[in-house]
Amino acid sequence: MTTALLPSFLLAFFSILIIIFLADNLIPFVESSPPPCGPTYPPDAIPIHPGDIDLMQFPLNLEHLEADYFLYGSLGYGLDKVAPELVMGGPPPKGAMKANLDNLTRNIITEFGYQEVGHLRAIKSTVGGFPRPLLDLSAGNFAKVIDNAFGYHLDPPFDPYANSINYMLSSYVIPYVGLTGYVGTNPFLIGYITKRLLGGLLGVESGQDAVIRMYLYERAKELVHPYNHTVAEFTIRISNLRNQLGMCGLKDEGIIVPLELGAENRTCSNVLSADFSSLSYGRTAAEILRIVYGTGSEHVPGGFFPHGGDGRIAREYLKKVVKGE
Ligand SMILES: *[C@@H]1O[C@H](CO)[C@@H](O)[C@H](O)[C@H]1NC(C)=O
Ligand SMILES: *[C@@H]1O[C@H](CO)[C@@H](O)[C@H](O)[C@H]1NC(C)=O
Ligand SMILES: *[C@@H]1O[C@H](CO)[C@@H](O)[C@H](O)[C@H]1NC(C)=O
Repeated sequence: MTTALLPSFLLAFFSILIIIFLADNLIPFVESSPPPCGPTYPPDAIPIHPGDIDLMQFPLNLEHLEADYFLYGSLGYGLDKVAPELVMGGPPPKGAMKANLDNLTRNIITEFGYQEVGHLRAIKSTVGGFPRPLLDLSAGNFAKVIDNAFGYHLDPPFDPYANSINYMLSSYVIPYVGLTGYVGTNPFLIGYITKRLLGGLLGVESGQDAVIRMYLYERAKELVHPYNHTVAEFTIRISNLRNQLGMCGLKDEGIIVPLELGAENRTCSNVLSADFSSLSYGRTAAEILRIVYGTGSEHVPGGFFPHGGDGRIAREYLKKVVKGE
């Protein structure tokens, strides 16, 4: 009798040991919550520093320009229809219209347009914002930019809405300026929420610029009808104009460059515009305003912003019109 009981007692004993082992090791593993994701910021870190607000509202000027240019170009209507709450009562853009695009180009630009809507929403919901400034997206305004880039009056005037290549050339004018602005703003931000926002915006603006540049690079040697200038030449001229208006040295390069501007001095192809160490160039708000106003002065509005930009940074410059300027 006792000899028969002993094995079953041992069995029960070992069974309990196994259950304890499982409970300690396997079950917690199976039941544990998903691994932690996303950053945890130090408890004393600042989410949004008061000084970040103006810095992150400033890019709304460019994001508005891009949103309506891309939405109108691809869809034939803009922010008023797609996201009226983001317009905040600003005036409708001048001269924006649907461009004559092939399907590939239209798909790319439609995506870019909606991306800008997301950017506007993200910025306005994080740091607040201002109504859409008055934008001049007329063909005539783009023609003026291209005339200035070439230094003579192109005949017939350059029409950004006429076809896909013209539209992509006119788009070359825009996201790159935003990209350099974000690079320039980055060191001045303090809050982790605003830094994260800027990182996300910079990533997509750079991506848009890369897509546009690649598109143009593939067609670098083609003539832009009916002018006797290649696509590459257009990019070089536009970049030179931006350098000239920005007035702070070389921060902008066309898609074909002399070797000394290529990557490590070894390429003439220049799909991406970058400095000496292949790092993106940065521009200040003042440099950006000089370029998008087309006046070479952050104090004198014009170009894409007939009444100037909005937000404290742009408005302060508008107030300080230097005598004689
Ligand atoms: C372009 O897209 C339209 C509608 O989405 C389609 O009907 C047309 O066949 C496409 N054209 C080409 C060349 O793929
Ligand atoms: C077009 O440009 C090329 C290169 O700059 C030049 O050699 C040629 O003479 C020009 N043709 C016309 C018709 O202007
Ligand atoms: C590229 O050339 C410049 C002179 O034009 C020189 O100063 C620089 O060191 C060169 N860079 C590299 C990476 O070789």
